[in-house]
Amino acid sequence: MGIRFLLNGAPHDVAAAPTVTLLDWLREQRGLTGTKEGCNEGDCGACTVMVTDPDGSARALNACILFLPQLDGRAVRTVEGIAAPDGGLHPVQQAMVEHHGSQCGFCTPGFVVSMAVAHLNGRRDHDDQLAGNLCRCTGYAPIIRAARAAASAPIPDWMRADAQRLGDAGVIVSQTHSGAHPPAACPRSADELADWYLAHPDATLIAGATDVGLWVTKGLRDLGPVAFLNQCADLRGIHADGDTIRIGAMTTIAELGTAMADRHPGFAELIRRYGSAQVRAAATVGGNIANGSPIGDSPPALIALGATLHLRKGDARRSVALEDFFVAYGKQDRSPGEFVESVSFPVQPDRLACYKLSKRFDQDISAVCGAFNIARADGVVTAARIAFGGMAGTPRRARAVEAALIGQPWTEATIAQASAGFALDFTPLSDMRASAAYRLRAAQAMLTRHFHESMGRAVNVLEVGA
Ligand SMILES: Cc1cc2nc3c(=O)[nH]c(=O)nc-3n(C[C@H](O)[C@H](O)[C@H](O)COP(=O)(O)OP(=O)(O)OC[C@H]3O[C@@H](n4cnc5c(N)ncnc54)[C@H](O)[C@@H]3O)c2cc1C
Ligand code: FES
Ligand code: FES
Repeated sequence: MGIRFLLNGAPHDVAAAPTVTLLDWLREQRGLTGTKEGCNEGDCGACTVMVTDPDGSARALNACILFLPQLDGRAVRTVEGIAAPDGGLHPVQQAMVEHHGSQCGFCTPGFVVSMAVAHLNGRRDHDDQLAGNLCRCTGYAPIIRAARAAASAPIPDWMRADAQRLGDAGVIVSQTHSGAHPPAACPRSADELADWYLAHPDATLIAGATDVGLWVTKGLRDLGPVAFLNQCADLRGIHADGDTIRIGAMTTIAELGTAMADRHPGFAELIRRYGSAQVRAAATVGGNIANGSPIGDSPPALIALGATLHLRKGDARRSVALEDFFVAYGKQDRSPGEFVESVSFPVQPDRLACYKLSKRFDQDISAVCGAFNIARADGVVTAARIAFGGMAGTPRRARAVEAALIGQPWTEATIAQASAGFALDFTPLSDMRASAAYRLRAAQAMLTRHFHESMGRAVNVLEVGA
């Protein structure tokens, strides 16, 4: 498979198997060993690189779960390309030196790239931007101090060069084509994908690769035929269409978070705790739904908003209520050759509250994730959509709880009574994240928490003081 991209400013043509990761290629083929391998599963950030898209936007991504074809027509900057061409340090590198931000140094290249991308994008939320970078010896205080110290320094010219070069017509023209064995494709549109997938219904679709990447790096799986969806521009974006918000399947979780900040801030806050900046910049809404995970974070919120999933097979399109897409653990209502085109939900007043419970605040998968969309008039519940992840083999609505709330006064007594419905709605599993009893208790506590929050009381552990 032929791939063309800029690497630290220079064009590269690469012929490689489609599931070679950027990390392996950098280290083993190019000798660029500044990009480190820590976990090889997207969890530590040691392999962070900067990727600039053709539209000029730059993201920090984990090279260990990034396949080379995902870079076609893009620009990659590794830690070796963060300093000036004459060797002068980038402001974040200088600040790391001055603030003693490195001890053993293993994590440092990843931190430097994440910090340089945040600096380029004008991000000052340093804790969030660096939550996906793990340091075991320096401690975070000096690193955050360095990020703060560098924040007001001007953006170096060379950090903008990739966007400019990609913007110059003809400098980099994507060369990707199918024809490798096993078949691999980079369709340019939903139409092209629909045709190709119909002809290869057993193929694996690769969106952001934050799940599929691990099938290769940890599962050592041979994927067979694959299609990379990241060049299907018409599958990307969020559009307000009359009374409906439509989210393309290839919209990243980061883009979803930005779009939800004004409309449904509770959803945006949930997304802030989804993986890390690197994971959110790669993972897509379509992948988060299509993987059918019972602990995916976006489905409960989308179900509570009344979302509809839009599927396509060839030229045939159909829509299903999102909750009905999840049939059973590992089984979704999707036939071979059919793919997720978009998900939509009605424009509505914001009533959405989302609560994520996980062992760590940052960069952790949910043990329980609850989303509440409860309407009231004159102190009485008029409508309720409540959905949970982590409580069953699929994301699922709490219909008994909803029924117990509707028509009742919004009081503590109603909440106590309705909470009994959770035991009818769910028979959760015990696993390494939580026991069944804990999950049930946590779901009930989330409803109580939502009640108190709706009454203006402080419930967030970050806000409640001693
Ligand atoms: C370090 C780390 C942290 C994570 N943290 C979280 C977290 O906090 N919350 C959370 O919910 N998840 C988390 N995840 C899981 C992962 O990020 C999500 O499941 C993600 O949304 C998957 O999206 P993707 O685009 O990367 O999918 P991919 O890995 O590309 O694909 C996932 C599956 O969906 C299929 N698929 C993708 N797009 C389509 C489509 N349009 N139509 C049909 N099928 C499709 C693929 O074939 C595959 O089966 C984490 C993962 C990692 C590695
Ligand atoms: S090596 Fe840990 S995130 Fe890539
Ligand atoms: S400096 Fe050693 S892991 Fe961060």
